[in-house]
Amino acid sequence: MRIENKLGLVTAAASGMGRAGALRFAAEGASVMLADRDASALHAVAEAIEAAGGRAHTIAADLSNDDEARDIVRAAADALGGLDFVWNHVGTPGPARVEEVDWNDFALTMDLNLRSVAVTTAAALAHLRARGGGALLYTSSVSGLIGSRQSPAYSAAKHGVIGYVKAMAIRLAPDNIRVNALCPGPIDTPMLRVFVKLPDQQALAGMDPEALIEQRQARIPMQRPGRPEEVANAALFLLSDEASYITGVALPVDGGATAG
Ligand SMILES: NC(=O)c1ccc[n+]([C@@H]2O[C@H](COP(=O)([O-])OP(=O)(O)OC[C@H]3O[C@@H](n4cnc5c(N)ncnc54)[C@H](O)[C@@H]3O)[C@@H](O)[C@H]2O)c1
Repeated sequence: MRIENKLGLVTAAASGMGRAGALRFAAEGASVMLADRDASALHAVAEAIEAAGGRAHTIAADLSNDDEARDIVRAAADALGGLDFVWNHVGTPGPARVEEVDWNDFALTMDLNLRSVAVTTAAALAHLRARGGGALLYTSSVSGLIGSRQSPAYSAAKHGVIGYVKAMAIRLAPDNIRVNALCPGPIDTPMLRVFVKLPDQQALAGMDPEALIEQRQARIPMQRPGRPEEVANAALFLLSDEASYITGVALPVDGGATAG
């Protein structure tokens, strides 16, 4: 087992990549606290983990709320008996518009993708230090590495996540805490479709959602979206001791989308 007896918190764990990561981490020996705003989907993930012989707890939380973004850390440390790693996976698509943008949408994009993960991190550090160190992982995006035509606000927030990760890697190295980011390309999860179905995204693209997905796929060297499990594999590696000399990286998991 690759992360046997590690104690971990995973956000946005009820669906997609977070769910795949939660299942994989538990199968590799970790005890996990799963946080998401979707309580019933979250319970289903925990049940699947327990049915497979793993250990999981859940907490329903809206992570755009600072108190709730902090509370999940206390709940995790209490339930698990400490904390070795956090995958700050939560995020949200952003608005396409620039001139007539809804500033509440813009603020939510910044708050959920960037502020909330910083709030959770701040609450987690004492727990990681108490265990002699650990690993923090964040979900940026290929839109955090190159400009996103779809949403400048999302691109700004995800670039911000990578800046935060690099700075925190430097700050936390003396505490034996590694800090890394994943940069997924289009991954086949519900969020992929939520993004392309936003009305202002469609207006920008001038095409229907399925055509937009196909167009984006055609630009990927591997010619297909990623699977949530492929991102979970990368997350497992970066959170495990196998990545003991890796900190401050932003790893694309994108079928080559950012290679050219
Ligand atoms: N799917 C993609 O193509 C893609 C690509 C790059 C990056 N990302 C990033 O991946 C993450 C999303 O993961 P996914 O694709 O696995 O999505 P998903 O749609 O499968 O799951 C998103 C989960 O986030 C939860 N959530 C949303 N808002 C929340 C909130 N305020 N508080 C608590 N939980 C909340 C939802 O309930 C859901 O379970 C985001 O950070 C996103 O920016 C996704």
